[in-house]
Amino acid sequence: MKTTISVIKADVGSVAGHAVAHKALLKKCDDILNTAQQEGLLEDYHVTNCGDDIDLIMTHKNGEENEEVHQLAWNAFQEATKVARELKLYGAGQDLLSDTFSGNIKGMGPGVAEMEFKERPSDPVIIFCCDKTEPGAFNLPLFRMFADPFNTAGLVIDPSLHNGYEFEVFDVMEHKKVKLSCPSEMYDLLALLGTISRYVIKHIYRKDDNEIAASVSTERLNLMAGRYVGKDDPVAIVRSQSGFPAAGEVVEPFSFPHLVGGWMRGSHNGPLMPVAQRNAHPIRFDGPPRVIALGFQIADAKLVGPLDLFDDPAFDRSRDQASEVAEYMRRHGPFEPHRLPADEMEYTTLPGVLEKLEDRFEDID
Ligand code: F6R
Ligand code: MG
Ligand code: MG
Repeated sequence: MKTTISVIKADVGSVAGHAVAHKALLKKCDDILNTAQQEGLLEDYHVTNCGDDIDLIMTHKNGEENEEVHQLAWNAFQEATKVARELKLYGAGQDLLSDTFSGNIKGMGPGVAEMEFKERPSDPVIIFCCDKTEPGAFNLPLFRMFADPFNTAGLVIDPSLHNGYEFEVFDVMEHKKVKLSCPSEMYDLLALLGTISRYVIKHIYRKDDNEIAASVSTERLNLMAGRYVGKDDPVAIVRSQSGFPAAGEVVEPFSFPHLVGGWMRGSHNGPLMPVAQRNAHPIRFDGPPRVIALGFQIADAKLVGPLDLFDDPAFDRSRDQASEVAEYMRRHGPFEPHRLPADEMEYTTLPGVLEKLEDRFEDID
């Protein structure tokens, strides 16, 4: 019997402004998932938040894209929205694009990462949740985990990793996907992955046996809605140890706070800061962008844990470096590359400015 992990997330209201999901919303989601566990739909669950996003981490036996599980998550977010409205929380219900559930939560606003697998004798899994960034933020760290021998020693010295991994990459603009194999097609892969706003890693498989290794939520809320309605703040599920990167190799790429899009008004680049869950409070200039990592052992579909993996002084220097980079980027104010290119900004007054000045623009002779 296989186990499914479904991580479904949404921002349905926060305090103060777009900072942190209120405890009452987390409690509401917890109550609803608890009932689903009593009734047997879920095997186990853990509710957490990264900034203003609520992350529902669920285990069950129903496979990916299961209608009942998706409906459950949808209901939890809808009920939490009611609480958010009562408390007049900021952005109540902002990520729910529809009033009625239509069988699959994908395309309705929330982000979804799922995977189904036969449990190994011991199966460590790490869940990453982000705020104030976009799905492509995982490109660099996932590449390093599964393809960079300077990060993952196992690629060189462990025979069970040595044949490498296959990356499934989504083109989120054209709604197309392609599979590329590492190390043989590494340069082709990097040619795509560097364009983080468009090409996004969706799944990673172990080449030896096609076993699922990683899964990412790739929804781009702003594209789905055709207008700005909120962030794409992504989640990812990564399997670890015994044929996959060790837990330490999985978190190691985040020691480098790389630049990602999504800070302040979804319109600025900033460093992705790895933090303990209790510090997932993006406040400074609504950021800088955050990532948390929760480690679980999966035991007969039960979630044993979590261990808060970035709650470790060994990441203090990365956080300091992120603060320094944040300072440096902020000094650019409204200039690129701190401000995103015009076509990447979540919302913008630039077209308005251009319209206003249209008549005053003259040809240069
Ligand atoms: C939201 C975010 C914030 C908002 C900003 C303005 O996740 O990143 O930076 O974009 O607080 O919000 P509004 O337009 O709602 O006043
Ligand atoms: Mg918000
Ligand atoms: Mg958010």
